[in-house]
Amino acid sequence: MTFVRLILTLILGSVQLCRTDPRPGKPNELLVITAATEVNDGYLRFMRTIRQFNYTVQVLGLGEEWKGGDVARTVGGGQKVRWLKKELEKHKDKQNMVIMFVDSYDVILASGPEELLKKFSRFSHRVVFSAEGFCWPDQRLASKYPVVHHGKRYLNSGGVRVCGRDMLFEFLHKYCVTLNDNVTLFRSSVFKKWSKRKEKLQLNYLGNYVPSAWTYEHGCGICDDDLLDLNGVSDEEMPLVHVAVFIEQPTPFLEEFLERLATLIYPHTRLRLFIHNNLIFPMIPLTVCLCFREACKKDVSCDYFFSIDSDVALTNPDVLRILIEENKAVIAPMLSRHGKLWSNFWGALSPEGFYSRSEDYIDIVQSKRVGLWNVPYITQVYLIRGETLRSRLAPVSLYQQEGMDPDMIFCKSVREQGVFMFVSNRDEFGRLISSTNYNISRLHPDMWQIFDNPVDWREKYIHEDYSKIFEDDENFVEQPCPDVYWFPAFSERMCDELVETMEDFGGWSGGKNKDERLSGGYENVPTVDIHMNQIQYEKEWLKFLKDYIVPVTEKLYPGYYPKVYIFIFL
Ligand SMILES: *[C@@H]1O[C@H](CO)[C@@H](O)[C@H](O)[C@H]1NC(C)=O
Ligand SMILES: *[C@@H]1O[C@H](CO)[C@@H](O)[C@H](O)[C@H]1NC(C)=O
Ligand SMILES: *[C@@H]1O[C@H](CO)[C@@H](O)[C@H](O)[C@H]1NC(C)=O
Repeated sequence: MTFVRLILTLILGSVQLCRTDPRPGKPNELLVITAATEVNDGYLRFMRTIRQFNYTVQVLGLGEEWKGGDVARTVGGGQKVRWLKKELEKHKDKQNMVIMFVDSYDVILASGPEELLKKFSRFSHRVVFSAEGFCWPDQRLASKYPVVHHGKRYLNSGGVRVCGRDMLFEFLHKYCVTLNDNVTLFRSSVFKKWSKRKEKLQLNYLGNYVPSAWTYEHGCGICDDDLLDLNGVSDEEMPLVHVAVFIEQPTPFLEEFLERLATLIYPHTRLRLFIHNNLIFPMIPLTVCLCFREACKKDVSCDYFFSIDSDVALTNPDVLRILIEENKAVIAPMLSRHGKLWSNFWGALSPEGFYSRSEDYIDIVQSKRVGLWNVPYITQVYLIRGETLRSRLAPVSLYQQEGMDPDMIFCKSVREQGVFMFVSNRDEFGRLISSTNYNISRLHPDMWQIFDNPVDWREKYIHEDYSKIFEDDENFVEQPCPDVYWFPAFSERMCDELVETMEDFGGWSGGKNKDERLSGGYENVPTVDIHMNQIQYEKEWLKFLKDYIVPVTEKLYPGYYPKVYIFIFL
């Protein structure tokens, strides 16, 4: 939950109205105070934005043990407030100082100190909390908040607070909680008390431009700084990668999948291959397969763990090297189904922890925005640093819930450990295969995949020289007799599989006698044939004609737009 509460700098308030200090000068000094007990990815991100805008920051609590409550990994509650009080003692005499107290793990700053102070002076309140879009943690309080017409409505006390120094003292003395105080209670009671006062709590309602929390770190200078360079590294020195392959359901184009795996450009001596095949050993539950991850965790020589499902078509053979060079603890190549928005990552989380579409999701999937994106969920294919598995992810257990997506459980644990997951669309990596309508009771089921997986179908079944017919080479199309054109369309593979499918079906209609042959209805010529609808290939065949033959007729007979009908002789 805390991850979604990403609130930025434009938080307002004013020292001018401060009763304890009737004639303050203009605020000219801004101190950012944050509390963090450990350095994790969220903390590092926060500090990068601090440096970017040249804020002065004081971090409280680093290296100290957190004993403030049950808010996982986020410093909250009483302990944080006590640290703050102690820190403020140091600044007692600084009349014009403005203090911004802010969490670090789930916060980034989007503008600089000057702008913040400017906004602060403009408003007539002394203590300002940031607002957020949903009422957390107690939804029942929602109706108590004022209705707003723009921006966010609810208090985010975990987010950002800005106030004049004196005000903060007063605030802390009145509402300070003791160690181990219940954070939920604290937030609610603060809100209740303040909302009774004449001087109302000012929430930062007006929505400012807030970049998406998850995808903030895009392919900019920020990430390029820490690329790992594998150039010049000898084969023997390349990182050792455990590759775990999961074939959990019948998947189209599996042969091609395995071929790609075998032709990855990476020293094969530095790969260890684990395969779970649910088709051959359906009794082995997935939990057992999670030992693949455990194996890497336990083996200190395992530098990376690469998990890949059989419905992932990685057409970029350099994928391992590229991902390793991005130098992230957890990273996935961005993939989507051909021409669809279905991908292997989520751009955002719903309050309940399920899928939610981020504002930049479509742009990322369609590669209109290119970079390295911090996301809350990845699936189907990803690379994890072995060292991270052994340290920060060590508490992530093998435990799986029946009926729950194992990747969902895994990603949730990774988020809870404060480890960022990234998805990259800086390179073209391939696509996802759809296995929804895969009917393995057919002899060559891939032949039927022209609708669901058109790119893979084309690669497998269309002749590699097919597209030459559209080039301006007069001699390419042979014309054995008038209006008969001869050009490569099907691959050898298609020809073989089509013939085998027909042989397998049997019942050539020319077989026995004329009556039988005519019983097909429209068959009034004595041919030896099997109709496409007899093998349930009518739709697919029409699609093939439309996609591959119609364009040829349009090229050969300009201005003539044919409709397609099925009529085939073998
Ligand atoms: C931060 O400080 C550095 C060095 O003084 C300066 O080059 C840079 O422009 C400053 N950045 C901002 C956003 O003010
Ligand atoms: C904290 O207080 C809230 C509100 O009174 C209550 O619902 C919740 O159960 C408390 N949590 C704990 C851990 O005591
Ligand atoms: C699957 O294929 C079999 C054999 O070709 C066929 O009888 C069946 O109707 C197909 N099922 C679907 C849902 O298309």
